[in-house]
Amino acid sequence: MNIVPALMQFADGSPVSTAADWTKRREELLDLLCREEYGYAPEKCAVTAEVTEINPKCAGGSAKLESVQLTFHAPKGDHTVPMHLFMPTDGKTHPLILLINFRPDPYDMYCPTEEILDNGFCFAELCYKDITSDDADFENGLAGCFDRPTDGTGWGKISLWAYAMQGALDYLLTRPEIDKNNVAVAGHSRLGKTAMWCAAQDERIRFALINGSGCGGTALEQTKHADAETYEHIHKYFGYWFCENHHKYTTQTISSVLDQHMALACIAPRFAAVGCAKDDLWADPWSEKICCTAAAPAWEVLGEKGFDGDDTQAEIGTFLHGGHIAYHLRAGIHFFSRKDWLPYMEHIKNNLK
Ligand code: GCU
Repeated sequence: MNIVPALMQFADGSPVSTAADWTKRREELLDLLCREEYGYAPEKCAVTAEVTEINPKCAGGSAKLESVQLTFHAPKGDHTVPMHLFMPTDGKTHPLILLINFRPDPYDMYCPTEEILDNGFCFAELCYKDITSDDADFENGLAGCFDRPTDGTGWGKISLWAYAMQGALDYLLTRPEIDKNNVAVAGHSRLGKTAMWCAAQDERIRFALINGSGCGGTALEQTKHADAETYEHIHKYFGYWFCENHHKYTTQTISSVLDQHMALACIAPRFAAVGCAKDDLWADPWSEKICCTAAAPAWEVLGEKGFDGDDTQAEIGTFLHGGHIAYHLRAGIHFFSRKDWLPYMEHIKNNLK
């Protein structure tokens, strides 16, 4: 496979051949992805939290649910984002999954909440629209609390949603119920893109659960198949997810600059799980699998197994989890299904620190 630009090569053309090289290359890639794709996020701001409600017995009685109000103290004002936090009540610490979701309902169709708890996880949920609206308005919610650079590199909405997830983690990692070594972030579709970008940047996150993320997520642009969404399409309808610099790229012109394997690779040496549905041609499950293959050298230079798969098209039921990048393909359509959550939870449990 000839993926251009090369992952394991610095911008000046010199090779990335040691672990120390990769540390520098990752910084270079994150900077490239900020400047040319997602936009630079605002400077970190203080986040405070208030627990406003506790349900001591939920989901069958083995867990508690707290309503937490997270307040971001930003330069142009404060903004509060509600979060649901479920925790098993057995007195032990548990790995955390932080889900950024489309709706604020704690028992949503995109998450089998009770099953996640029964599998021994703490589970936190944010609703993306509580952070800022899903449109080109950069003045509402948390977006309105920062100045946004107008030189083409200013954060798009994906970057801001990921920023808020990081702010939520600032608080979650202070909770004694949560096992800080085993933190996962999760999201579906546009929020799968968001979860990936969040984990790419934040080394506190051990697992990224990236579901149906497609274009601008884990689908490699240069290998897009028929019926898949392309950069041209995404810029036309959802250009505000990205920084303005990204709008100049098309499938053809991107090749010399960047592609999605670079974002996935920034998760190395941590863990990523990529999942898609067979009929979700818009997200392009095959290009997602090729992306896993293309990102794997980042793990290998660190002495870890990257991806236990190749760039051929997967069959329904595929679950490749012998490396740090897991990939599964289930039957069906674009959805965050229980059949996605099961392999994700397995991947985490197999790789707990
Ligand atoms: C649209 C968009 C995708 C996105 C999806 C979603 O289909 O084109 O890029 O992933 O919405 O978020 O559901």
